[in-house]
Amino acid sequence: MDWGMKNRFSRIIKPDSGRCVMLAVDHGYFLGPTERLENPRETIRPLLNLADSLMLTRGVLRSSVSAESNTPIVLRVSGGSSIVGEDLSKETIITSIEEAIRLNASCLALSIFVGSKYEYQTLKNLSKLVNEGEKYGIPVLAVTAVGKEMARDARYLGLACRIAAELGAHVVKTYHCLDFRKVVDGCPVPVIIAGGKKLAEREALQLTSDALRDGASGVDMGRNIWQSDNPVAMINAVRAIVHENITVNQAYDLYLNMSKMKSAMRKSPSART
Ligand code: 5RP
Repeated sequence: MDWGMKNRFSRIIKPDSGRCVMLAVDHGYFLGPTERLENPRETIRPLLNLADSLMLTRGVLRSSVSAESNTPIVLRVSGGSSIVGEDLSKETIITSIEEAIRLNASCLALSIFVGSKYEYQTLKNLSKLVNEGEKYGIPVLAVTAVGKEMARDARYLGLACRIAAELGAHVVKTYHCLDFRKVVDGCPVPVIIAGGKKLAEREALQLTSDALRDGASGVDMGRNIWQSDNPVAMINAVRAIVHENITVNQAYDLYLNMSKMKSAMRKSPSART
């Protein structure tokens, strides 16, 4: 890796620990105004300084995040399909490399749909993006998106992650599964996990802990943070697992205590002073 690539990559995966807490708020690019992300500025504001990096599209970055923020940006540059359209896998590259540089992106993110109708197109997108990223020293995060008919098992996810790494992705995002260690072992670049659909907080913390135990380098988590009733408490609990190796019980206690404090402060505003 050259200096620029290494420098940007170190803003995404912490070099001392090899871990990361990436906050995903890119869902609107195909889902529209998803629950609790209807107003991205409001959702992002309290979480921005608690995330190691923020994953989003250029539209939400420009409209909803202060340009004075120091949080590294993972720019989603694939899209072109929607939840009501023909096929979710029919994606193209929607943001140019020049625009990504202007926006000071630390990393580029793109979905691949292995086993889907548009597999070839999405793998070509990834190869093209890696070529562009290499020119300018910008790493690429490959998102192994799963079609409705695809099993989320170690065989399939391992296949998708390995292909992403072979095509040059610098980091890969996938889902945790049974035998996840095999997925990580078969992928020569760091693997991070998506949170997926909203779970009870304790379950989401368990998922985080299990993924790290099985070799994940961290999380790219969205709904399990900002759809929580206490997103700030939740991201702090996730951070403590990823960066401080605390147990799930300790993290859940942290979540409950921070949530209680917030509700006490709401009831008695004078307690803040
Ligand atoms: C959407 C994405 C999301 O960023 C990813 O799935 C992480 O979010 P969540 O934790 O809510 O699953 O790539 O395509």
